[in-house]
Amino acid sequence: MFIEVDGVEKVFEVRRRTGFLKRERRQVRAVDSISFTVARGEMVGYIGPNGAGKSTTIKMLTGILTPSGGRLRVAGIDPSRERRRLAHRIGVVFGQRTTLWWDLPLIDSYRLMHRMYRIPDGRYRENLDRCVELLELGGLLDVPVRQLSLGQRMRGDIAAALLHDPEVLYLDEPTIGLDVISKAKVREFLRELNHDRGTTVLLTTHDLQDIEQLCSRVMVIDHGRMVYDGPLAGLHEAGGSERILVVDLERELPPIEVGGAARVVRTEGPRQWLAFPAGEPAAGLVSQIAADYPLVDLSVREPDIEAVIARMYADKASA
Ligand SMILES: Nc1ncnc2c1ncn2[C@@H]1O[C@H](COP(=O)(O)OP(=O)(O)OP(=O)(O)O)[C@@H](O)[C@H]1O
Ligand SMILES: [Mg+2]
Repeated sequence: MFIEVDGVEKVFEVRRRTGFLKRERRQVRAVDSISFTVARGEMVGYIGPNGAGKSTTIKMLTGILTPSGGRLRVAGIDPSRERRRLAHRIGVVFGQRTTLWWDLPLIDSYRLMHRMYRIPDGRYRENLDRCVELLELGGLLDVPVRQLSLGQRMRGDIAAALLHDPEVLYLDEPTIGLDVISKAKVREFLRELNHDRGTTVLLTTHDLQDIEQLCSRVMVIDHGRMVYDGPLAGLHEAGGSERILVVDLERELPPIEVGGAARVVRTEGPRQWLAFPAGEPAAGLVSQIAADYPLVDLSVREPDIEAVIARMYADKASA
């Protein structure tokens, strides 16, 4: 397996002031014995609520942090022991923090990386040209990074992570704060990268659509523990979650009656909200309603990740 994580833990020591000259030592178990493997060429989503341990995991996979326990290998390399050697084979994007030189024009950061990673000239040119074209960086190369918009900077960061042809790309919230169009561009690029080059991708996000559009497999971490690893559809089932169909009828009517698991959960004038199992396609329900009711408009709302996870936990606690 390309990435192997076996019983990995990370414990942070934190000192907290509890009074005058009084300090308390406390341990935070950020990652609590997680195990998973990722095959070459896979594109895996890694999700969970704030503070779950996602970034800590990614930092251990890059070698920035040393695990407190367990075993970790990326391309056969122990990341924290051979961080330099691994750096030539991995790319990382932290959405919250740029790896580019803030005051330099974008192209200068790339030139520095060209030298730092000793990328052969031909390969550097080729990768740069490809990224510039696909990420639409042409007009931005001479602009200092601090003058770039968030979406432009993110695309600049993604290009920077790929100039040395990494076999695996870790993305920690690559779409955070981006508008719909920028998100679509980033997703499109990642899909092509994974498809055309077979780059292995591990993607952390709070946007369920990133996962839906990119990843066939999703891992969920909560309080440092892996609570789910499988297909996205299965996650909805595991969470027992529902989607909401919002329908606008021609006029105010009594609650829509349809068979099966769908039911009206709210009405407001001619608008009605129906909850139905997230694992089922909406099409059947829509055509049933369209046949029996004067339907004007409709939309489907996805459950958000936090809600799905909260429900998974509630189910576990009551099981
Ligand atoms: N350097 C550190 N020192 C002490 N505690 C830390 C450190 N880094 C992270 N933590 C703690 O470890 C836990 C996991 O943090 P982590 O950043 O991995 O979460 P995350 O899943 O990435 O969350 P988010 O979605 O908010 O980015 C949190 O409780 C955090 O406060
Ligand atoms: Mg994080």
